[in-house]
Amino acid sequence: MTKVITVEQDFSVLAEAADALTAGKLVAFPTETVYGLGANAMNEDAVANIFVAKGRPQDNPLIVHISSREMLKPLVKEIPETAEKLMDAFWPGPLTIILEKSDLVPLRVTAGLNTVAIRMPEHPVALALIEKSGVPVAAPSANLSGSPSTTRASHVIADLTGRVDYIIDGGASRVGLESTVLDMTSDVPQILRPGGVSLEELKAVLGDVTYEPALKDSTKAPKSPGMKYRHYAPKAELILVDADKADTMQTILDTEAKKAKKTGVLSCGNKSYAADFVIACGDTPSEYAHRLFDALREMDDLGAQVIVAALPADSGGIVPALKNRLLKASGGRVVSNVVITKTECI
Ligand code: TXA
Ligand code: MG
Repeated sequence: MTKVITVEQDFSVLAEAADALTAGKLVAFPTETVYGLGANAMNEDAVANIFVAKGRPQDNPLIVHISSREMLKPLVKEIPETAEKLMDAFWPGPLTIILEKSDLVPLRVTAGLNTVAIRMPEHPVALALIEKSGVPVAAPSANLSGSPSTTRASHVIADLTGRVDYIIDGGASRVGLESTVLDMTSDVPQILRPGGVSLEELKAVLGDVTYEPALKDSTKAPKSPGMKYRHYAPKAELILVDADKADTMQTILDTEAKKAKKTGVLSCGNKSYAADFVIACGDTPSEYAHRLFDALREMDDLGAQVIVAALPADSGGIVPALKNRLLKASGGRVVSNVVITKTECI
């Protein structure tokens, strides 16, 4: 049985779920990036249940969520000064930091790695839940493995009802894409997954930061196990087209419609398209990011068979994360001048 708890002003409704979390139950909860599926990180059986509930590959490690800096110390070997600076600048917030793990962190959480990924989320409900539970909380995104991440409680209910003990509804996630995963164990800090904190923001604090090479070259094995899997994919076929090529987008929609396919389009900006279903994803990359996973799920619910989505032009901020999710979700299917190419993943 899955119990749904809605949190508005009164956080005392979290007490029951927090106790359950401490005791080893699975609790899905809102964060500012996407919803998370939480278990007590110190309880190996509970952590193992996360993998079952999601259908997640065993070799994909989990992020440990904390609500205070005091919770961090026992989980890691040491905290470099550079990591402290990052925490001062970006925590609570959409940045996950990878450090060497202590013996206290079960290998089940880290999928056998000697490093652990840690994040302090910014969402008040997430922070209150972790604090009330009194334990670090291992939590992947609260979706079935492979499908789009969940940014609203309704998405979690659709994917995980009957598979988890509690789902906490705290409204729509503000950012809409997952946290930036930053490896602080390499000489130069490396972004393993672009996300809610940008390369430029990290460089302003750290100086030197790079993208992990596999992000730009799909022939290389990624350092972050999760990045090798196809992810975020809707049931419909997803085709990406450079956002400034509105005519190409319409041509593809028309071609697919002629094949009797139900077509959907994710548009950004104020261009209009003829398709069975049109979802406007806002005027800015941030609005598009906020809306993306919800829009992919909505297209599936509407019955779209082919989705054509605008691929934003290269620029900073959230755009590399947005492009990464779109490219992963499409399996790299990008139409550029009507030539289909496999491209890099940022
Ligand atoms: O925003 C987020 O990060 C969300 C919310 C719930 O906090 N969580 C999330 O978790 O996206 P998940 O499990 O969907 O993605 C975690 C990513 C995976 O790609 C995983 O491989 C990587 O982080 N990761 C975790 N621990 C790692 C480690 N020790 N070394 C390298 N990569 C790691
Ligand atoms: Mg995920």
